[in-house]
Amino acid sequence: MTELIKELMPQHVAIIMDGNGRWAKSRGVPRVAGHRAGMEAMKKIVDHSDKLGIKYLTVYAFSTENWKRSMEEVSGIFGLLVAFVKRDLKELIENNVRVEVLGDYSSIPEDARRSLQKTLDDTKADTGLQFNIALNYGARDEIRRSVEDIAAKVKAGQLEPEDVTEELIAEGLWTGKSHSYTPDPELIIRTSGEERLSNFLLWQGAYSEFVFTDVLWPDFTPEEYEKCIAEYQSRDRRFGGR
Ligand code: IPE
Ligand code: IPE
Ligand code: MG
Repeated sequence: MTELIKELMPQHVAIIMDGNGRWAKSRGVPRVAGHRAGMEAMKKIVDHSDKLGIKYLTVYAFSTENWKRSMEEVSGIFGLLVAFVKRDLKELIENNVRVEVLGDYSSIPEDARRSLQKTLDDTKADTGLQFNIALNYGARDEIRRSVEDIAAKVKAGQLEPEDVTEELIAEGLWTGKSHSYTPDPELIIRTSGEERLSNFLLWQGAYSEFVFTDVLWPDFTPEEYEKCIAEYQSRDRRFGGR
């Protein structure tokens, strides 16, 4: 395995899990089979993050734009998610993993919503890896929501316009104090050769390092993951300083 520097381990890694469709196409199987293989890859990465001592793992599972896909594919993805949380809930609890959702999941199919809620409740007290599932997530939408909350407080006279700080805007995001309490990711990985954010963590990624790999998500292994982290560890992060 890759030589990693313990002191330089990122606290929070975020992943845009892309390429399930192309993986399926290359095998001549339905897209949903690609998503199923993607879930298996995801499970291994959750386990491996914990082993590496990473504290927060965020995965982009479904975007606010993914509703544009066919009904068949959308319900397939949510079905797999339910299967994942049901099958692996025990193991997540055994591994002390706390699951959080980033995004408004009130509008996802009922059975998926209920299974997720149970997972969140059952893992709430866990103190190990925090596993954030970005679901029905869109960065512009979350910034808009935070601003809406702030505007309501200003209107109610609870806040002055000059009290609107960066910290306050960040508090109202899904990663903020009012939700999942997640620090900004040091590293954002995207698989499948695409090099864009697709509306993921626009605010939180202001100073993240980006690592892009051509590997399609279902083929993404713990070895590949370590290579991405090693690449991150070789970067010189300057944050605007000299
Ligand atoms: C990522 O794989 C999973 C989701 C967006 C839900 P894709 O389904 O986007 O795979 P490609 O990009 O079509 O290969
Ligand atoms: C981003 O991938 C969303 C997820 C991985 C869940 P997409 O495949 O939806 O993004 P685009 O369409 O290539 O930008
Ligand atoms: Mg894609």
